[in-house]
Amino acid sequence: MEEFLRPAVKEIKDYVPGKNPTSPGVVKLASNENPFGPSPKALEAIEKEAKNLHIYPDQKSLLLREALAKKLAVETDNLIIGNGSDEIMQIAAATYLKPGEEVIVSAHTFSVYEFVTRLFDGQPVFAPLNNFEQDLDAMARAITPRTKIIFLCNPHNPTGTYCSNQELIAFLDKVPDNILVVIDEAYAEFAEAADFPKSADLIKSSKNLLVLRTFSKYYGLAGLRVGYGTGNKDLIHYMFRTKLPFNVNRLAQMGALAALDDNAFLDKTYKNNLEGKKYFYAEFDKLGLEHKKTEANFIFVNIKRSADEAFLALMKAGVIIRPLTSFGLPEAIRVSIGAPEQNRKFIANYT
Ligand SMILES: Cc1ncc(COP(=O)(O)O)c(C=O)c1O
Repeated sequence: MEEFLRPAVKEIKDYVPGKNPTSPGVVKLASNENPFGPSPKALEAIEKEAKNLHIYPDQKSLLLREALAKKLAVETDNLIIGNGSDEIMQIAAATYLKPGEEVIVSAHTFSVYEFVTRLFDGQPVFAPLNNFEQDLDAMARAITPRTKIIFLCNPHNPTGTYCSNQELIAFLDKVPDNILVVIDEAYAEFAEAADFPKSADLIKSSKNLLVLRTFSKYYGLAGLRVGYGTGNKDLIHYMFRTKLPFNVNRLAQMGALAALDDNAFLDKTYKNNLEGKKYFYAEFDKLGLEHKKTEANFIFVNIKRSADEAFLALMKAGVIIRPLTSFGLPEAIRVSIGAPEQNRKFIANYT
């Protein structure tokens, strides 16, 4: 069978997802999902929309794009919706990456950037982290005449660190216009830092910037699969050519639209995350565990011993976390910030 494969496919590693609970009562803090379930307003909208499932969805997700445009103070044509923000990464690579071109990503980062690069016969170039932080200087140094795309993850998965507005602008100044910079902001809604970038503003003055966000985390809709990309109109225009026609289903479009202004749910999610991180910082300090300050809904803990062993021990106690072995960090774990009782269960069982 191998001889039938495109050579690039041989290089692609299987995605390693967080483990799902197999029995009730098991706490999952492995995939940075919303601990309060889906947005209730989204659920209501999905139930209403179900009666229309015999009709194809809007190919361009117009209602959702219009609502997002209003919220972000951009134009509808600055937006594209994907079947999760993962799909927009794939659409960007399908539209812009030529075989053999280089794509710069951080080492030890979210694996889909490498996946879409290899899928379209690109060459991933890994910039090292600096003290577990994404290192923009190292990424800028990795630019060559063959570089086509740079994926920045902000806040950074799996370490929760961030780059500020000022750092980002200084970095973008060093990147030539013929390189597409994709900023993946899957966790941006959780950011607390006052100097976190206002990237929807940055796209207005840039031809080569694509900012990705998702409904999977903050809005509690990971299972629905909706994400969006914001960028210059021309950049986005060509991406509509390479996406599958009906990539975002009817329930996803209407659910995401309703979730956008589910303020009670969103406020609860944000506050819980702030309190949860304070709780974890204090408990990790008591346990003498090195951890990074986070701007996301998860915390990186450098446990300095086998992450797989810690994972198995916690599994036995009914808590699922993410060992970072598949990220190339076999002595570190990533713990999602859950509801208070979930966080306490993790701490009570960490030995
Ligand atoms: C950094 C990052 N980007 C994107 C995604 C995927 O988001 P979506 O569910 O919208 O495809 C994840 C999911 O874990 C993530 O951690």
